[in-house]
Amino acid sequence: MEKCFRRSVLLSTVIAAMLFSFIPVSISIPFILFHGIGDKCSGGVSNFTQLLTNLSGSPGFCLEIGNGEKDSWFMPLIKQTSLACEKVKTMKELSQGYNIVAESQGNLVARGLIEFCDNAPPVINYISLGGPHAGIAKIPKCASGPICDIGEAMLKLEVYTDFVQDHIAPSGYIKIPGEISKYLEHSKYLPKVNNERPDERNSTFKDRFTKLHNLVLVMFESDTTLIPKETAWFGYYEDEGFDTLLSTQQTKLYREDWIGLKALDVAGKVKFESVLGDHLSISDEEVVEYVVPYLMQSCM
Ligand SMILES: *[C@@H]1O[C@H](CO)[C@@H](O)[C@H](O)[C@H]1NC(C)=O
Ligand SMILES: *[C@@H]1O[C@H](CO)[C@@H](O)[C@H](O)[C@H]1NC(C)=O
Ligand SMILES: *[C@@H]1O[C@H](CO)[C@@H](O)[C@H](O)[C@H]1NC(C)=O
Repeated sequence: MEKCFRRSVLLSTVIAAMLFSFIPVSISIPFILFHGIGDKCSGGVSNFTQLLTNLSGSPGFCLEIGNGEKDSWFMPLIKQTSLACEKVKTMKELSQGYNIVAESQGNLVARGLIEFCDNAPPVINYISLGGPHAGIAKIPKCASGPICDIGEAMLKLEVYTDFVQDHIAPSGYIKIPGEISKYLEHSKYLPKVNNERPDERNSTFKDRFTKLHNLVLVMFESDTTLIPKETAWFGYYEDEGFDTLLSTQQTKLYREDWIGLKALDVAGKVKFESVLGDHLSISDEEVVEYVVPYLMQSCM
């Protein structure tokens, strides 16, 4: 890996240690995890982070944005992204580079972090589990609970208004086929992170995203939360309506390469994976197959 030269000092120390001890040592790259909406690091997600650490041998950190559950609903994604950016830069463990694992909405925070964060350490591998990368066409069904109910009720108001955009995180990636001009004009997050507006494309975002070593996109075949499920691979409906679903390679984002997805794919760095379950239902075996290998790569 290109980033390894940064570790050369550490590396020579380790080599010296190996010569003297004959114990094989490798330097593992740490990872951070972003959870989805309505979740928090202190719940089951911390078990998942621990599982990934147990299986990969790499240190992992669930990165909480604000207070977790509530802010994941009500803090706009642009704000969540900038908090993630500041947090990552204060973590010494990550200063030589790190990997990202993200669940669901957490993927939009992850991509904002990769694309927007100035003077940040490099992201090496990025593993996306059920990410709404190309948007969602319908309001996702909500689990139960008061926060969820309020969020859902607010989303049902006119989604492309400043009020909803500024107060409900998922409004930032609702992209309703047939209402694309409204979406492009008023949506405050997805058009930016996807470099969708012709007059506002920023090549820095693309350059940063293209520097990933591996991009792993896991789609859930029976996903009932993401509509369409193919958004996890950047596939989406055509602008005009729900009739035609475009494959990743048929989308303009890919063909005109707005964010570097095509460049990464042509370089063999995008792994399109699918598993059978519903949204985020991934078995330990699938975790071992699709996630863990990318957390185990080290500089030795
Ligand atoms: C986390 O794992 C522990 C055992 O390792 C279990 O007791 C606990 O219920 C799990 N927590 C969640 C929220 O899944
Ligand atoms: C991780 O490993 C530790 C130590 O072996 C064990 O106590 C813990 O239950 C494991 N956790 C998970 C989620 O696999
Ligand atoms: C593009 O994004 C970078 C990084 O956030 C920023 O520094 C730069 O000013 C932006 N360029 C334009 C033309 O907006």
